[in-house]
Amino acid sequence: MLDQIEPLKQAGLAELRAAPDLAALEQTKGAYLGPQGKFTALMKQLGALPKEARPAAGKFINQAKTELDAALAERRAELEVKAALPAEPTDFTLPGRRRALGHLHPLTQVTEDIVRSFRKIGFVVADGPEIEDEYHCFDALNTPADHPARDSQDTFYIGSNSSPVVHPLHITTHTAIAPIDPRLTPGNYRLLRTHTSSVQIRVMEKQPPPIRIIVPGRVYRRDNADATHNPTFQQIEGLYVDKNVTVGDLKGTVEFVFKELLGEEVKLRFRPHYFSYTEPSFEIDFSSPMVRKMGKEWLELAGCGMVHPKVFERVGYDPEVWTGWAFGFGIERIAMLRYEINDIRLFYENDVRFLKQF
Ligand code: DAH
Repeated sequence: MLDQIEPLKQAGLAELRAAPDLAALEQTKGAYLGPQGKFTALMKQLGALPKEARPAAGKFINQAKTELDAALAERRAELEVKAALPAEPTDFTLPGRRRALGHLHPLTQVTEDIVRSFRKIGFVVADGPEIEDEYHCFDALNTPADHPARDSQDTFYIGSNSSPVVHPLHITTHTAIAPIDPRLTPGNYRLLRTHTSSVQIRVMEKQPPPIRIIVPGRVYRRDNADATHNPTFQQIEGLYVDKNVTVGDLKGTVEFVFKELLGEEVKLRFRPHYFSYTEPSFEIDFSSPMVRKMGKEWLELAGCGMVHPKVFERVGYDPEVWTGWAFGFGIERIAMLRYEINDIRLFYENDVRFLKQF
């Protein structure tokens, strides 16, 4: 029996060292050292030896098993390293792969630039709800009940107050809702704000003058999408209330910001207009080399004016004491001018090939 030990050990060592992978290695281990293995069988034969021969034989077998264990551990380590390596050799001379970094949407970039310009001259950003009511969107802004902007052709009215969830996408036609504000009559419909001017009211209701705010935000109108219209778009509103505010302040401020945004060579023109919440009211036209490239001399850009006394009365400001100006304009139009984009829908398609150009 002692004669069997050495050849069996050698065979075992050779097989373990030659195992091509971890599975084969485990199998070889079982064949020699497992409960049904060849060395286990030898151990069982020990009992058949004469008593004095047993210790030497046992020691011999144990030594062999120790050697086999060492060979097993060594081969396992080798095979584990091999298994962790890629099947194909790595070419370390290949160029690295970069993770593509995104960037802000062009409309966000323009908005941030506008906000930055206004911050320089002491304005702060204010915010208000996109789901508004008629009072804040129209009545408090002195807009008469029969004004065409209030028509359901132009404004998205939304479900009644009693419906459990009012979601901007659940748009129904003119449904009366229960009053949500004690000043309001039962006819105060809820709607998606058609302009950011509603935030003028929300801010003035909450705080006393002076006020110096800008309000960037999303607005909604029932327009069919085409190159210059989209049913949702972004506006920025400005409101300045203090004592002795003049049209000169309005012009100076607007000119400062537009020159910062679109370059020193821009020209602005204030043309008399009508808005119910300002008196006098103006439209701001804009001219620049870019506008002339589009074959026009002037492009209409914004509405503005001196805050109407009736608006002040609505929010409890004394119109004899306080004066102010307000303006509102569309952010897409500025972005289109700045980046020479000819279709507003491109901003909303989220096509990365378009977006990554800015
Ligand atoms: N709300 C107007 C619009 O959506 C823009 C506007 C005009 C805002 C005059 C004003 C303003 O604050 O004074 O077309």
